[in-house]
Amino acid sequence: MTDVQELLLSRIRDVADYPEPGVMFKDITPLLADPAAFTALTDALAEIVVRTGATKVVGLEARGFILGAPVAVRAGVGFIPVRKAGKLPGATLSQTYDLEYGSAEIEVHAEDLSAADRVLVIDDVLATGGTAEASLQLIRRAGAQVAGLAVLMELGFLAGRARLEPALDGAPLEALLVV
Ligand code: PRP
Ligand code: MG
Repeated sequence: MTDVQELLLSRIRDVADYPEPGVMFKDITPLLADPAAFTALTDALAEIVVRTGATKVVGLEARGFILGAPVAVRAGVGFIPVRKAGKLPGATLSQTYDLEYGSAEIEVHAEDLSAADRVLVIDDVLATGGTAEASLQLIRRAGAQVAGLAVLMELGFLAGRARLEPALDGAPLEALLVV
């Protein structure tokens, strides 16, 4: 493990039985509160923007906004929010996806993505992959290219990586930490 990975891991707090019994929640608020760790995270993700040749960063509400916005600024590319349904005022593309119980819907402003864009999606955690998969589908439906998906943390035991293979279609999935 690199020094940066050790720093990041040391600032993620495990919270047992949240939000429901049996779930170990990964709390990134200690990382966000530590300027050295948040800077190291931002730098590592910005390097992925450069390496993948992305021209836009998409952040997934809510925690993907916190991580993705400084990365876009650092890398010198635009930031596009993918929001939970009903929050964007303009014409949107929307995508529904299944949750363990029920379903969820995310949206993007249609005018924010075009065929000229190469998009890196950023989020904090890859769990089942449902949220990321829906975002990749949105980006492709908008006609934009997928440069990749970058997350702070991949929960390997949930097999999100395998689920995302079709939606990534050869684009890289970069996880700074795999737990
Ligand atoms: C969490 C997390 C990821 C997603 C991962 O978001 O931030 O976005 O779940 O789960 P998945 O891979 O199974 O889709 P959530 O919407 O719960 O909360 P947030 O609004 O705080 O980001
Ligand atoms: Mg989230």
